[in-house]
Amino acid sequence: MKFKNKVALITGGASGIGRETVIQFAQNGAKIGIFDLDQKNIESVRKQIMDYCDDFVSITGDVSNKKNVQECVDTLFEKYGDVDYLINSAGILKDNMIDKIQEEIFDEMLAVNLKGTFLFIQACVRNWIKAPKLTIETAKKEGKPIPKPTSFPDKRIINVSSMAAEGNIGQIAYSATKAGVIGITKTAAKELIQYNIRTHAVMPALIYSPMTEGLVTKDDGKWKKYYEVRNPLGIGEPKHVADVILFLCGTESHFMNGAIIPISGGRLHSL
Ligand SMILES: NC(=O)c1ccc[n+]([C@@H]2O[C@H](COP(=O)([O-])OP(=O)(O)OC[C@H]3O[C@@H](n4cnc5c(N)ncnc54)[C@H](O)[C@@H]3O)[C@@H](O)[C@H]2O)c1
Repeated sequence: MKFKNKVALITGGASGIGRETVIQFAQNGAKIGIFDLDQKNIESVRKQIMDYCDDFVSITGDVSNKKNVQECVDTLFEKYGDVDYLINSAGILKDNMIDKIQEEIFDEMLAVNLKGTFLFIQACVRNWIKAPKLTIETAKKEGKPIPKPTSFPDKRIINVSSMAAEGNIGQIAYSATKAGVIGITKTAAKELIQYNIRTHAVMPALIYSPMTEGLVTKDDGKWKKYYEVRNPLGIGEPKHVADVILFLCGTESHFMNGAIIPISGGRLHSL
């Protein structure tokens, strides 16, 4: 039981990549917190894992709503006393060409994919750094050596970006949000490592999930064929992403921080 007694908070945990991540954490003994808009799907995940996971807290809400986010983080810290892993997987995809996309859609994508990621990081980090910050400040004041990061509890943040962060036709808003997630990840990695908090991002290529099923079936499978050719390893499964997320939370990745990992299906170029 690799994650026994650990607590994983997964946004967007009711579907696709987030859901598979929840399942894998639960199979490995973790206590689970799910935050998602979709109450019905949260219930179906709960049923799916109830045989091996009875430590399960679900909160329905919107990642772009600061109050919802704070309530979720407060609930988890109250119930479990701590959170060890924050996985930011909630996201939306609304594609359109530059000349057609509506301003409201652009704003919505920024709010969910980018601000939502930031809000969850901020709410967790405020809890995580209280004691380490005080210890570091006291050491500085007293002229004592600054404690090593590894003297503080080990925390991980994993953000789900996308290969689209490198630019993709029809994805002006989506690619901007996912490139923003990489910026957030790199900044958090640099700022937070002093407190033993490691931050990483994964960049999946096309993965079968409810988010992409419309695209995969569209135009009699034209896009499915296109992506199968574009990615030599084909279209991915949520498991391919969840496996990497769990690796980034495990002891094997102890010496890593700020990794931006393409899960690219072998794609050699991005256009
Ligand atoms: N599927 C892919 O091909 C692919 C590729 C690269 C990156 N991603 C990213 O992976 C993440 C997960 O995608 P997925 O394929 O699992 O999609 P999905 O649609 O299956 O799951 C996304 C989940 O996020 C939730 N969600 C959406 N908006 C929310 C909000 N405002 N507040 C709370 N929850 C909200 C949804 O209810 C859903 O349960 C997303 O960030 C997505 O951008 C997906």
